[in-house]
Amino acid sequence: MSWITPSGGLIWHGRALRYRRLWTPFLQTIDHWLAQWQPPTSALLLLGASAGWSLPSRFLCQFRQIHAIDLDPLAPRLFRFNHAQALASSGTECTWSQGNFFNNTADVLKTYPDHAILFSNVLGQHALQINHIEQAERDFASLTHLLQGRSWASYHDRISGLADNARSELKPFLLTQRISAEALALRVARQGEWFDHSTTQILPASGDRLLIPWLIRKGRIQWVEAGSIKGTSEKSQLDSITI
Ligand SMILES: C[S@@+](CC[C@H](N)C(=O)[O-])C[C@H]1O[C@@H](n2cnc3c(N)ncnc32)[C@H](O)[C@@H]1O
Repeated sequence: MSWITPSGGLIWHGRALRYRRLWTPFLQTIDHWLAQWQPPTSALLLLGASAGWSLPSRFLCQFRQIHAIDLDPLAPRLFRFNHAQALASSGTECTWSQGNFFNNTADVLKTYPDHAILFSNVLGQHALQINHIEQAERDFASLTHLLQGRSWASYHDRISGLADNARSELKPFLLTQRISAEALALRVARQGEWFDHSTTQILPASGDRLLIPWLIRKGRIQWVEAGSIKGTSEKSQLDSITI
């Protein structure tokens, strides 16, 4: 059990409290993007939930049941602090597991077969967390394979660097195709070195994705990618409308 990890724990909670104002444009964009994701289910599997600092209560309240998973032992208590009141008024039941979902991804997905799945700003830290880029890429390949047919969404870090090295126009933009970390850096950076979070392959090669700048702390910027994938049942509903 660890209170501080490369992707969460006390440092993350401290930052979320300290930089709340700086994060406002990013949080508003995530709020807007999540409001447009309408999975056809009343249950959510929330991976990397932490205290839900980046999650609007009104998004969570649309579900009847949420199962949240995080490594951080403090996460359930702080999540309750942020969202319990709203969840109680919408009647949303929230259960928790503490652990690493990459250790038993197939079992986790099987245990919650009817849940839509949200990777909540978690996949971009996996390579750092295990300190192994190739293993992280293998984990992502088997994860996306296991997710086939499911309704899921993710927002995750793509590249990060010094704010001084970024271009001045920091606005979200939409893409319809996958973009490599190098091409993204060419588009958003002026100069300098940018860290690649190894998440290029998470979303399918084609399909909408929103690229969002995030001033995570003074002088440091991350570009986050957000996208959602329809499950098999949603696709067949769509087909029946088209016919
Ligand atoms: C950047 S924080 C996430 C933020 C959270 N979604 C929020 O809105 O506050 C990433 C979280 O993912 C958790 N995490 C990272 N890798 C994980 C894994 N493999 N399994 C479970 N939790 C993980 C960390 O403990 C951390 O709380």
